[in-house]
This record gives sequence, C-alpha cells and structure tokens, in this order.
Amino acid sequence: MRKQIVAGNWKMNTNINEGVELAKMIIEKVSSANKDVELILIPPFTHISDVAKQTKGTTLKVGAQNCAEWAKGAYTGEVSASMISSIGATHVIIGHSERREFFKEDNHLLFRKINEVLNNGLIPIYCCGEKLEQRESNQYFEVVEQQIAESLFELNKVQMQQVVIAYEPVWAIGTGRNATAEQAQEMHEFIRKTIASKFGKEIADGISILYGGSCKPSNAAEIFAKPDVDGGLIGGASLVADDFIAIAQSF
Ligand code: 13P
Repeated sequence: MRKQIVAGNWKMNTNINEGVELAKMIIEKVSSANKDVELILIPPFTHISDVAKQTKGTTLKVGAQNCAEWAKGAYTGEVSASMISSIGATHVIIGHSERREFFKEDNHLLFRKINEVLNNGLIPIYCCGEKLEQRESNQYFEVVEQQIAESLFELNKVQMQQVVIAYEPVWAIGTGRNATAEQAQEMHEFIRKTIASKFGKEIADGISILYGGSCKPSNAAEIFAKPDVDGGLIGGASLVADDFIAIAQSF
C-alpha cells in the first residue's frame, strides 16, 4: 500500500507568528482528518524549528522547501540538509519549478541535492512538471521523463524507495487552472512506468506520487480518486487551515 500524503508548501509566506498560528490551527483541526493520510507542513526555513515544536507528539510532519547541494562549509546564505534534520524536519522539497525558474536549478544539480537529503535521513519530495508551452507543443512526457531520468536514475534502489514525487505542471501553479483529473492520472501513470523501467515495478508501485497545481477542496477529491494519484502538494490552499484539512479529507 502506498502512503497517501498531503503536504502544504507555504512558499515565502507568513511571518513567524502567522506561521505558528497557522500550524496551531491545523493541529487543532487535524483530529477530524483521515488518520491514514500523512500531513506535512512545509514552512519557510525560519519557522521550521517552531513549527516542529508545535507538531511534536502529533502525527504531522514538517519539511523544508529547499536545501544546499553541499554538506557544509563556506557557502554564505545556504542551509544544509543536516541543519534541516537537526531542527526536526523530515522532508525536503527538491526541484520546485520556482527554484528551477528563478534560481536556474537543473536536473543534475537536483540529483546532488537529493543525495544530500537522503544522506541525512530525510525524505526528498522531488518536483517535476512541464511549462505551458511544453504542454501545448506536446512535449510534456519528454520533459518529465528527462526530469525523472536525470535527477533520479543514478540513485540506488534503496534510495529510490525513500523518494516522494510531486507532479506539478507549471501552468497550473498559482493560476487557478488545475490539471484535470485525467491529465493528472495520465502523467502519474507515465511517471510510475518511467520509474518501473529503471527500478522495477515493485519499487515503482510503492512510490507516492502527489499532484500539485491549484489543488483545492473543490477539486481534490476528483483528482485523488485516480489510481496513480497518492495525494497533493498544496500551495495557496495550504495557507488556510480549513482548506488544507478539507483537502486532506478528500481521499
Ligand atoms: P498552488 O496550489 O498555489 O497552485 O501551488 C502549487 C505548488 O506550487 C505547491 O508546491
């Protein structure tokens, strides 16, 4: 059985007080959410420690939105995977399209980051997904296949089993225009087949593949009902406790 996961990527939103308050509200409401669903809060770096203290003793997990490709040293402004692990986080988003776009992160760099994350006992949530022009020119399978192959195919099988994948079509992020459930299923199935071609069906069948891109309470149930969709990576709606919980209840 694959894990069902709903993760909230807060991006660069909330100050510390707002972030702790949001975490508290989610924790209060979480008892009404489905216990089989793993919920992960992914605030900015500055809030991880405080949010992790709030979630201690609950079923909620905490993650980071990025990490350095290096273990330590003279890299001013960077945050290492071991630092993230030391403050109570368990997951790290790697390769979000905003990192690819604004910080020019490519598949090979992301492979090195994934290694750092795994070497520190953390779980990478590896994001992939095509841009609008790539969807419109029917290159989307090719683009996602390359993202998967270049960032994940050098991992060994044990490492691969730790990875969570998030399919986030760039044209659906923050636009209000979500992929249809059919589009999501088609790509998730393709991603699973791509993983199977390298690591075997058993490993591919065990990997959680999340959908992200304008996922909200009104469309989550339809998308999550698809056989290869194992949950969501939620942006805007994760900043509203009721919406985040409603999405978590959408399986
Ligand atoms: P939205 O849910 O705001 O579209 O963002 C999705 C996303 O980028 C999650 O990582």
